[in-house]
Amino acid sequence: MGSRIVATGRATPRAPVTNQDLERFLETSDEWIRSRTGIGQRYALRTGESLAEIAVAAARTALDRAGVKPSDLDAIIAGTVSSEYAFPAFACQIQHALGVSSMPAFDVAAACSGFVYALSLADASMRLGEWKRVLVIGADALSTMVDWSDRRTAVLFGDGAGAAVLVHEPGPRGILASLLRSSGEFGHLLSVRAAGARATVDSEVRRPAEDAIKMKGPELFKIAVKSMEEVTRQVAQRAGVALDDIDLVIPHQANQRIIDAVAERLGLPARKVFTNIDRYGNTSAASVPIALDEALEQGRIRANDLVMLNACGGGLTWGANLLRW
Ligand code: ACO
Repeated sequence: MGSRIVATGRATPRAPVTNQDLERFLETSDEWIRSRTGIGQRYALRTGESLAEIAVAAARTALDRAGVKPSDLDAIIAGTVSSEYAFPAFACQIQHALGVSSMPAFDVAAACSGFVYALSLADASMRLGEWKRVLVIGADALSTMVDWSDRRTAVLFGDGAGAAVLVHEPGPRGILASLLRSSGEFGHLLSVRAAGARATVDSEVRRPAEDAIKMKGPELFKIAVKSMEEVTRQVAQRAGVALDDIDLVIPHQANQRIIDAVAERLGLPARKVFTNIDRYGNTSAASVPIALDEALEQGRIRANDLVMLNACGGGLTWGANLLRW
């Protein structure tokens, strides 16, 4: 008695920021960014755009495709760490924009693992029979939290939102197993103070360096590879599935080299690993649902395929979900 994703949607800010755009104000190069990260461009909020609007667009697409009306939803869960407001919750903002009320709507703060965490929570509640239809969102705008003069972080992150409609459904398809992990002792490897102005790439406002995202990239790299490998193995084992039988892995898009290293350790060929980091950068909680939505659009997932979602991010947090599509 589990739950199944019946539709997805995605949205980004209007305009991309290319590596060439960054070359104009940062001491960096397209060659460095591509070779170290795999990123060619990312989308970043401009003045006048809002993350909530983008998430609502992704949610509406998913709801339309699912044929589910907002009023049919039993809950809205949003993975995000970059809402414009500490409260109301991001999920409450989405709920209001969708013109509905009364169902629970709340956020999960697990940084880049936000969608994997939210999906797992939704599935667990649906197994208890609490809810029949849930909207799960992953949305972030870390571009508003970087120091745009810090080339070590500014080139990595992009903004966007992905959404999935989950329905309670008995049967062999749906979420087979999930596993969530965290380790606060590594919190200092990727952090940002709650205070600080939101500084979009095109605004005059600059986020003070002490309030901007701080990251120890090389240390994070190693832990991300190890944790994503381990949690993927553990979830497959929990579901009684051999790694070889997985049809597609949709990893958090943090760095192409992290994705490649995890795939290599798991013995997965590149054709079984979905990547789109070249066009989006690291969109934090939005990364997995945006990639899932694109994978579906490209026909990379067929009915009954085994699909693994995995992520690692600030907290540190990590986790994975195995789905029978
Ligand atoms: N352009 C040009 N040069 C740069 C840039 C840049 N944008 N950024 C750093 N450099 C320089 C550094 O200053 C350094 O120069 P130095 O040797 O003269 O001091 C050199 O490049 C190498 O820097 P490293 O930090 O050692 O480079 P590395 O190969 O480790 O790559 C990176 C850095 C891309 C951040 C990598 O460590 C990484 O991806 N780590 C994981 C971080 C991550 O994914 N964070 C996202 C959130 S966590 C998550 O989602 C899992």
